Amino acid sequence: MKNKAIAILDANWRNGYSVPSKNLYPYQWLWDSGFIAIGFAHYDMDKAEKEIETLLDAQWENGFIPHIVFHQLSDSYFPGPNFHRADLHPLSNKKYPSTGMTQPPVTGFTIEKIYQISKDKKASLNFIKRTIDKVFKNHEYFYNNRDPRNEGLVYIYHNWESGTDNSPLWDSIFETMNPPVYTFERRDTSHVNPEERPTQREYDHYLHIIDIAKSHNYDDAKIAEHSPFLVQDPLFNAMLIKSNHALINMYELIGGNESKIEQLKSWNAKSIASFNSKLYNKELKAYVHYDLRNERPIKLVSSSSFSPLYAGIPTKEQAAELIETMQSKFGGDSMYLLASFDPTSEKFNPKKYWRGPVWINLNWILYYGLQDYGYKDLAQQIKFDSIEILDKVGFYEYFDARKSEYKADSKGYGGSDFSWSAALYLDLINN
Ligand code: GLC
Repeated sequence: MKNKAIAILDANWRNGYSVPSKNLYPYQWLWDSGFIAIGFAHYDMDKAEKEIETLLDAQWENGFIPHIVFHQLSDSYFPGPNFHRADLHPLSNKKYPSTGMTQPPVTGFTIEKIYQISKDKKASLNFIKRTIDKVFKNHEYFYNNRDPRNEGLVYIYHNWESGTDNSPLWDSIFETMNPPVYTFERRDTSHVNPEERPTQREYDHYLHIIDIAKSHNYDDAKIAEHSPFLVQDPLFNAMLIKSNHALINMYELIGGNESKIEQLKSWNAKSIASFNSKLYNKELKAYVHYDLRNERPIKLVSSSSFSPLYAGIPTKEQAAELIETMQSKFGGDSMYLLASFDPTSEKFNPKKYWRGPVWINLNWILYYGLQDYGYKDLAQQIKFDSIEILDKVGFYEYFDARKSEYKADSKGYGGSDFSWSAALYLDLINN
């Protein structure tokens, strides 16, 4: 299995960056790159570093990092660079075409993880020195441009920014919209069973939000004013807070940089306070998303609801409540940990993308989060479940949480030979 994981990562490497999955996703994706680099760090430090440096090379002048970097043209994916038109933004990167949206900011904790895994700390410290200010600038971008009310919580303006693309979380927002019917040819459904992918009508919503952002040349202030989708996402903000912590640790290691450390600490203090007062739902005993456009909490539980454990956000009491919710809704002998959406909800769909299946990156985040809070048994369970699933069916993109679905010839769902499933497997077995 280990050799297979390495072979997948090496096959998905494109001389400077990795594709998440050969046909389905033929470019570089932001948070995929972070997880992939952590996998590389276990056996090929050069690739780990290069993966992140290539991503940072696509950073915009204002610190923004795009969610897809289109390194080359490919007709196996829609929407491509000609639809996204990131060049409409005056500060966009001139070297690489990209999207005008971002993804969960994992780069900060990725570079720290690479350093921790490294056996040559001196060389890795040089890598940190080369990259850390760019990551800091990215965080500055978020707090200066994505937090219109100065709460310490940044918004996402598109469901693709969340990384959890078609989660039921977004259904109530899409109900407020009435996008035009687009005529276009999807490519994902020619690689993967359409039952496991979003519907055509869902895609109309996704494209329409992009068109609105484009009509404002991707100007953040205008997007904050006009985008029908504007959400404070606990997963996204937890990744940012975790990455702030990581940057503090790394700047302390380098020495100097006092004012940056102070800034990072003050962002985190404010963010964590708002996070716990605004995004924690006492009835559900879980963190929930906040729909900033329609001024209402989205009272649904998903795997994102537990991700703040990874960033040290919940108090001990909140953590205990989160575990209660996780076990009562997502646990039990018949289920692998952890479904991406509340299995007790009528919106749960065990085969469809982010509407229910298990994703290895979320499991990985929760494994470390549970460990940090001292829930060792549950952490082990989530790790062993992940490894068992991958052992049974291979390195797919997402997986059924119902144990009864696993027969001798079962497969996973979505793309096969999926990079982050392979990369995070390498990290999990090394722990
Ligand atoms: C899908 C996932 C997203 C991921 C991308 C590339 O869009 O929802 O999280 O980054 O694929 O793997």
